Amino acid sequence: MSLPALEELEALAGARVLARLDLNVPVGGGEVLDDTRITAALPSLRWLLERAEVVAACSHLGKAKGRPEPAFSLAPVAEALASALGRPVRFVADCLDPARADAARGELLLLENLRFHAGEQANDPGFAERLAAPFSHYVNDAFGTAHRAHASVVAAAARYPRGRRAAGRLMASEVAALGRLVDAPEQPFVAVVGGAKISTKTAPLAALLGRVSTLLIGGGMANTFLLARGLEVGRSLVEADMVDTAREVLATAAARGVEVVLPADVVVTDTIEDPHRVEVVPSDRIPAGLSVVDIGPRARARCAAALGAARTVFWNGPMGVFESEAFAAGTLAVAAALAACPGFTVVGGGESVMAVRQAGLIDRIGHVSTGGGASLAFLAGEELPAVAVLAG
Ligand code: 3PG
Repeated sequence: MSLPALEELEALAGARVLARLDLNVPVGGGEVLDDTRITAALPSLRWLLERAEVVAACSHLGKAKGRPEPAFSLAPVAEALASALGRPVRFVADCLDPARADAARGELLLLENLRFHAGEQANDPGFAERLAAPFSHYVNDAFGTAHRAHASVVAAAARYPRGRRAAGRLMASEVAALGRLVDAPEQPFVAVVGGAKISTKTAPLAALLGRVSTLLIGGGMANTFLLARGLEVGRSLVEADMVDTAREVLATAAARGVEVVLPADVVVTDTIEDPHRVEVVPSDRIPAGLSVVDIGPRARARCAAALGAARTVFWNGPMGVFESEAFAAGTLAVAAALAACPGFTVVGGGESVMAVRQAGLIDRIGHVSTGGGASLAFLAGEELPAVAVLAG
């Protein structure tokens, strides 16, 4: 797939550029809690600021529902962006403000949350027209939002011909790196998939079965797979209505010769918030009154062995209740195994990326995707609406 690069933008001197970024970052107490997506946006922003007359960045944040909600304001992001960029960032309190393209040279504009207008999620061409009208050029660097058919990434992009629209550096590197997992990945290709729910990952799991040699499953979703294999999981989180889907995944894997590895042992507890009993038990002996909260030491070692021999690895989703320090060991062990893997490694999804970062191993990963849902949709072979418009 050929995406127009920044270098293909014509007549940039004097240009007014609308740059769609994914600055949907965790914010708490008015502070940005994780700046991965901010850092990832910098190369394109710097490149544009050096060449264009005006650069206005825009993004969504959180699940705002078509009207302003202070909790989802991008104002704290403007501050974090300014210090990361080392340049002034002027915050524009409405993405349709008439002055949204008025900037001093070298100053970045950041427009308020696009989702404060209902037209954004509705992919409303009228909203896209109003948003984009003052801008001569358009850049999309919001890979994390590429699976959404929203106005700022689809209808707005479609207004600009080649030469006036481009994929940013991040978008290009994400598509190239994830493309390596889809187009003839080097074998053995091992996928590690965790997180709470199978229901959000059914299509990617099915797609991965056509490419990987081994699929390691952890996190809450492993409980549903254990049920599908006829084991008891006590009081653990399960998706009862997905047991048949899990059986289908296991049957498809068996038919294709893909090895599916469920945790051989698990960490169980009585309560997550205030644990009194914490034990490691084999997966076929999970006590009736306890819940699975992490993978056990044997499962971690199995994972490390598989990743040590892999030429390609994709990891999405934590192995347990990672946000609780007591149950983070399995997820951190996967992060360490990924860093030690000599092959091409890709991690996608907020918590998995956070684990790699917490372990201080982010520089030892081949590609850290800023897209959770977007990277899964890409791997599932789905057309990403925002990418399709850019390429079209
Ligand atoms: C993400 O964080 O996955 C993207 O920013 C998309 O956000 P959304 O799921 O709210 O559309």
